[in-house]
Amino acid sequence: MKTNEQGSAGMQDLDEFTVTEAAVAQMRATPEPRLREIMDAAVRHLHAFAREVNLTPDEWLAGIGFLTEVGHACTPYRQEFILLSDVLGVSALVNLLHDKTAAEKPTDTSLLGPFYRDGAPELALGDSICRTPPARELLFHGRILDASGRPVPGARIQVWQTDESGLYDLQSAGPDMMDMRGNFTADGSGNYHFRTAPAQDYPVPLDGPVGRLVMRQGRHGHRPAHFHFLIAAPGHRELVTALYLADSPHIGSDTVFGVARSLIVTPTNNDPGAPLPGLPSVRYDFRLSRAAAGESGRVGADPARIVPVQVVPSNAVSAAG
Ligand code: BEZ
Ligand code: FE
Repeated sequence: MKTNEQGSAGMQDLDEFTVTEAAVAQMRATPEPRLREIMDAAVRHLHAFAREVNLTPDEWLAGIGFLTEVGHACTPYRQEFILLSDVLGVSALVNLLHDKTAAEKPTDTSLLGPFYRDGAPELALGDSICRTPPARELLFHGRILDASGRPVPGARIQVWQTDESGLYDLQSAGPDMMDMRGNFTADGSGNYHFRTAPAQDYPVPLDGPVGRLVMRQGRHGHRPAHFHFLIAAPGHRELVTALYLADSPHIGSDTVFGVARSLIVTPTNNDPGAPLPGLPSVRYDFRLSRAAAGESGRVGADPARIVPVQVVPSNAVSAAG
């Protein structure tokens, strides 16, 4: 074995392939097995990507600049990294992998997205989630069932969606107001119903680094009109899903890959079983899978859980002055 002037016995001159082996070998002693497995695969795939596209220093620097911008765009009310994961299809992929681990076949899942917020108002069955009466109303009703079709009494149902102009409350009113979202509790037979407005197609947030990337890629950047649901009951895996309107112009080209055929709905004007007559309505029964205690189905989070809201002590201003 050669030894150079610095006495580097065992040192090897690396080429574009052996640098990968060297990096992976150095991380092999990671004590946590899952961290070792994840970083080993991440580094091998990242190196393979750089080799495949013959990545230049300028391009790598541009990528680092982009990720830095994505980080700076994150606040308690905006999660640009989740948006990046969404538009790259990674959120949908992680959902699909997670769904395969369910004990039973539940309703198909869909993305939580960046507009979910903890603490939406508690509403009674039949209430509307709209603060301002909408031009058109829509009724949702149905049952929460287990995977064998038995009702799940008292299941908790959170819903959130855009208003009639395609904006979430965070976009139209800011963080201090909640609108177009609510929490309901299914009755003793697992029935739910609530009133809302027809959601609209909307662009994912395009005013940040992720949106600029989507535009540079020539993509339309829209999501088909949809209604988000997060349904939970003890002993069951949380179901995070959404229902999509069949007549949406973007139903076949969702920017974040959240649509499944089983989640597409068409409102009807004549459902004799609807609990509030005279409104266009959608009937949908959701199915939950059994789960071990503490198992979550939530792939995503309220942005404030990732970047917490800073509580400024009331004496901070006078102390600073
Ligand atoms: C949403 O459906 O709220 C959403 C999901 C992914 C990206 C942007 C929005
Ligand atoms: Fe949405």
